[in-house]
Amino acid sequence: MMPKRRWVLASPVEGKPQEANFSLEEFVPVVSRADEVLVRLLYHTVAPGVRAKLGRETYAEMVRPGDMIPGMGVGVIMASNHSGFAVGDLVSGELGWATQVVVPSEKIARLDKQLYQTNPLYSALNALGPAGLTAYFGLLRVAQIKPGDVVLISSAAGSVGSMAGQIARIHGCKVVGIVGSDAKCRDLINIFKFNGAINYQRTADLDASIRQHCPEGVDVYFDNVGGALTDAAIRCMKVHGRIAVCGQTSDYNAGTPRGWRETTTIITRRLKLSGFILFDFKAEMPTAIQEIAGRLRSGELVDKPTIVDGIERAADAFVSLFHDSAPGRLLIRVDPDAY
Ligand SMILES: NC(=O)c1ccc[n+]([C@@H]2O[C@H](COP(=O)([O-])OP(=O)(O)OC[C@H]3O[C@@H](n4cnc5c(N)ncnc54)[C@H](OP(=O)(O)O)[C@@H]3O)[C@@H](O)[C@H]2O)c1
Repeated sequence: MMPKRRWVLASPVEGKPQEANFSLEEFVPVVSRADEVLVRLLYHTVAPGVRAKLGRETYAEMVRPGDMIPGMGVGVIMASNHSGFAVGDLVSGELGWATQVVVPSEKIARLDKQLYQTNPLYSALNALGPAGLTAYFGLLRVAQIKPGDVVLISSAAGSVGSMAGQIARIHGCKVVGIVGSDAKCRDLINIFKFNGAINYQRTADLDASIRQHCPEGVDVYFDNVGGALTDAAIRCMKVHGRIAVCGQTSDYNAGTPRGWRETTTIITRRLKLSGFILFDFKAEMPTAIQEIAGRLRSGELVDKPTIVDGIERAADAFVSLFHDSAPGRLLIRVDPDAY
């Protein structure tokens, strides 16, 4: 069999990731064990959350030098030792940054081919995948949004943030996003139809900007980044406001995380905070996917990830996530013919 390619960790990441931390190697995939399948990848994600697994700390989920870099992928089954999967099945799951991969069948789920006759395959990794579902459950189950709520979202042009803004708007909320560039502000207003957008890089007083966009106060803060942005959001919240703690991107590269400092305000405003993990909602996912797909078909929701062509560009794309003017919603198209 011809060698395939995959990205592995060359050295543990300290501070911001560098391309030198990664190495693209050739390997020959072999399906040997019962229960294993061979998947040819079409797309995979490069997500900032992976950074937390690439440092020197040692806990079960850490990626060690020589290990493949994790990432969600969508692909086609090429060989199967498991009766539940057949050659040609379309699947998604934790596949990694690779052109082909051998995985135990428990790591993948079959995609409904009918759904992808009307939706692009990349939606399995964005609107109809982890990003859309995280936004959906974070807002509807964790923050329990209701019509009329003022919803503030950080990293609002990212995969999760752009979906969260659209879902909140569909549910009758007023939606304001915080992002790191004027181009992203324009995307929020023009593509994702947010009510307001704030560029935190060009705002001297973030509290004042939030208050200007949300004079009535913030009911729900959907937190993707943590740190100083979250402190500002907390200061602008209404009494009994709710915070869905989804991610802390600003802390992932910090040796000592900055964390939140507005803890006293959390008490005086009687704020309700809840962290959550997408996979807690596994049982409800099929229903949520059908609902989101319906909204995509009707045009209420748009799915516009930035697509980078070629597995060889994955490390560079990942590194770019942690710099100013980083693209939001980033996917690698592994197969040039994938739609
Ligand atoms: N709880 C869950 O189950 C779950 C599931 C999926 C994802 N997540 C988390 O949700 C968050 C969003 O995920 P995503 O995949 O959509 O990523 P994302 O928001 O697209 O992340 C990249 C963006 O983060 C922003 N960023 C990077 N460094 C920053 C900093 N120091 N301060 C402020 N913003 C910074 C940048 O946007 P700007 O240019 O706008 O600053 C960058 O484009 C991540 O923290 C992820 O780990 C959680």
